[in-house]
Amino acid sequence: MHHFIHLKDISLVDLRKILTDAKKRKKNRKNLNTLQIDKDAPLRGKFLIQMFEKSSLRTRLSFNLAIKQLGGGTITLRPNELHLGQGGESLEDTAKILSTYGDGFMLRTDDDKKIDEFAKYSRIPVINGLSPSSHPTQILSDIFTIEELTKKNISNLKISWVGDSNNVLNSLIASSVKFNFELSIGCPKNYTPKKNIMRWVKKFKNKISIYNNAIDAIRDADVIFSDKVISLNDKVNKSKKLKSFQKFKITSSLIKNAKKNYIFLHCLPRGNEVEEKVFQSKNSQVWLQALNRIHVQKSILLYCFGKLR
Ligand code: CP
Ligand code: NVA
Repeated sequence: MHHFIHLKDISLVDLRKILTDAKKRKKNRKNLNTLQIDKDAPLRGKFLIQMFEKSSLRTRLSFNLAIKQLGGGTITLRPNELHLGQGGESLEDTAKILSTYGDGFMLRTDDDKKIDEFAKYSRIPVINGLSPSSHPTQILSDIFTIEELTKKNISNLKISWVGDSNNVLNSLIASSVKFNFELSIGCPKNYTPKKNIMRWVKKFKNKISIYNNAIDAIRDADVIFSDKVISLNDKVNKSKKLKSFQKFKITSSLIKNAKKNYIFLHCLPRGNEVEEKVFQSKNSQVWLQALNRIHVQKSILLYCFGKLR
């Protein structure tokens, strides 16, 4: 079994295996209905336990569908209905009980330490469904979408991120190092990635650049990513932060600096960081991006359960 917590800790060989499997599975179930099970039903009888300490639409639904399409079942726990959430049971005991009943545990939390603790005490794979420091399942799926659309290896593309230095960007930085692609980041000076992430950026300085203006960051980009300026449970002075990002909005005039056939991606939900016209344009692939989460979660689950062929 394998945990799936941060992309930086997973080998490129395994990440590639996940993407290849997702491609095959997506193709093979073209004519199947949403809840029909893949022919090989590789996770028949397996039980995924999910818990969201923060809101979720896409991650929740894509994991539900993913495990069901693989032949397994799932439940979503509400943290406030567990003894753990009420302070009446330790994380260690909770993790051991989850390992007794379930075969995998997917957690969205506001506390990275909690995921590490669950991984320490669990005998089943733990998946990070978004934490303050990363959103690995999202970015791996986005790489899938980019390669599906461009039919190119991502290492031959220039990827830009214009926005906050948040969990999604951290995973994008880790994947830039893993998959060896050029990443150009545009963010205000006071909102550059944290020190531990900057160490990675420095190590990889020929491929990752940080600009404090959006035009330079977006220049000649094949793919442009954006995300909410204010993340879930972001404990900041919101109006001050939003003001700092005013010049980092993805507008039709800014986007002219990208390649003509650029792809626009956004993990959603969105705020005001992208102009409606860009978001709804033919270059925007946000709906396919969301759909592909199902296909990639399936291969992530197979990797975690030790069933990836
Ligand atoms: N992109 C994403 O993770 O969406 P949810 O917060 O709706 O799960
Ligand atoms: N950066 C966002 C991603 C939401 C899917 C957040 O953490 O809220």
